[in-house]
Amino acid sequence: MRKIAAGNWKMNGTKASLEEIRALIGAHPAPGCEMLICPPATLIAAAAEAANGSALTIGGQDCHAAASGAHTGDISAAMLADAGASYVILGHSERRADHGETDAQIAARALAARAAGLTAVICLGETEAERDAGRTLDVIGAQLAGSLPEGADAANTVVAYEPVWAIGTGRTPGLEQIAEVHDFLRARLIERFGAGAREMRLLYGGSVKASNAGEIFAVANVDGALVGGASLKAADFGAIVAAL
Ligand code: G3H
Repeated sequence: MRKIAAGNWKMNGTKASLEEIRALIGAHPAPGCEMLICPPATLIAAAAEAANGSALTIGGQDCHAAASGAHTGDISAAMLADAGASYVILGHSERRADHGETDAQIAARALAARAAGLTAVICLGETEAERDAGRTLDVIGAQLAGSLPEGADAANTVVAYEPVWAIGTGRTPGLEQIAEVHDFLRARLIERFGAGAREMRLLYGGSVKASNAGEIFAVANVDGALVGGASLKAADFGAIVAAL
């Protein structure tokens, strides 16, 4: 299993931030582990060029389901690949909330990503109200069923569990709560896609930082992290990569 530390820069970063990419190239993930940065679309080509030949891979934060056409402001998976991306985050809760993205749209984008040779990092997660109502596994199960297209496998898909209430808040679930969701995800994935899904990477996301990364990575069925705020600086993210 190639564990991954993935950084999502969200709507942060200008050309000056390429300095962080250059600094990260000096961080060496443990053998068999991977580091990924998903900068804003404006920086993908330059970041991919800077990272070329290093252990750092570059990804996008969303893509359109169509290959091309009259979709002002959107970016296709093929365009991301052309710019040097090899991954794309899909269905992040901020996009589900800000843009009303549905599970079906996310599944369609995942198919487009696959057609372009990108690995989709598909995000799922419950809100605080859903957790308080005891609905976490129902919500996650429905998102998993709806957002992953047929044919998802360990090569074309990574799943990221991100409780909405843990994103950018400094709050993280207990390790046993993370374990419960990841065990559930693994079981559902094997049920639907077969034994090969044992190798599908399951990332945890939500307030991961250098000080808690090690204990989170030690949880069974956690194969890495999707990191927001702590991925913006190479020093912080490098420490998370080192904990893989
Ligand atoms: O995609 C990343 C997540 O939304 C986590 O963000 O590490 O700033 O909490 P955070």
